[in-house]
Amino acid sequence: MLTSKQLRRYGKPLVFGALLIPFVWLVYNWWHLFERVPHDLGFNPQETSNRFSGDWAMRILLLSLAVTPFSTLVRSPKPIMFRRMIGLFGFFYVCVHITSYIWLDLRLNWLELWADVTKRLYITVGMGALLLLVPLAITSTKGWVKRLGSRRWKKLHKLIYFIAPMVILHFFMMRKGFQIEPLLYGFLLVVLMVLRLPVIKRVVSRP
Ligand code: HEM
Repeated sequence: MLTSKQLRRYGKPLVFGALLIPFVWLVYNWWHLFERVPHDLGFNPQETSNRFSGDWAMRILLLSLAVTPFSTLVRSPKPIMFRRMIGLFGFFYVCVHITSYIWLDLRLNWLELWADVTKRLYITVGMGALLLLVPLAITSTKGWVKRLGSRRWKKLHKLIYFIAPMVILHFFMMRKGFQIEPLLYGFLLVVLMVLRLPVIKRVVSRP
C-alpha cells in the first residue's frame, strides 16, 4: 500500500499527465491540420473539437464526483487528495470547450453567442452550468477554504450537485431524440449520487 507521501510524490504527477492527454491530442491534431499533414479531426474540425472537449469536460467532472464514493469504497481518505486537481481539470476542459465553440465555430461573434444562449435551450443550460462552475473553480484553493470557513465552503461546493445534472441535460438536449450515450452518462451520475446517500455509505463502509 502506497503512503500518502508516495501518492503525493508519484500519483499526482501521474494523474496530472493522464488528464492532460486529451488536450495534448487536440493540440497535436490542430497542429497537424495547420501543417497540412494527416490528422484525426475529420471533415469538420470545429465540430470535432467542440464535441471532444465537451465529452472530456463531462467525463472529468463525473470523475471528480466519483472520488468521494471511491474513497468510501476503499475505506481510505487518500483518494481525496486528487479531487481538487480532477475538478480543476474538468473546469479546464469546459474552458477549452467554450473557447473552441466561440473561437472556432462562432469566429468570436459575440452577438451570435448571445443569440445562441437566448434561443437554443441546450446552450442556455450549458452556459448556466459554466457560470455556476466559475465560483467553484475560484474558491478551490486552500486560501479560499480558510477565508470562507469549512462549513460555508462545503455548502458552496454542493453546487456541483446542480451543475452535474445540468451538464447531462445539456448533452441530452444537444443530441436530440433517443440516444443511448447521454442516458448512460445520466445513469452514471445517478449511481454516483446514490452512493453518497448516508444509508448507502453506512452499508458500503461497514466492516
Ligand atoms: C459545464 C459546462 C459544459 C459541459 C461539461 C459541456 C459538455 C458538452 C457535451 C458533453 C457535449 C456533447 C458532445 C458530443 O456530442 O459528444 C456538448 C456539446 C456542445 N456544447 Fe457544451 N458543455 C458545457 C457548456 C457549454 C457552453 C457554455 C456552451 C456555449 C456557450 C456549449 C456549447 C456546446 C455546443 C455548441 C455543443 C455542440 C457541439 C457541436 O455539435 O459542434 N457548451 N457540450
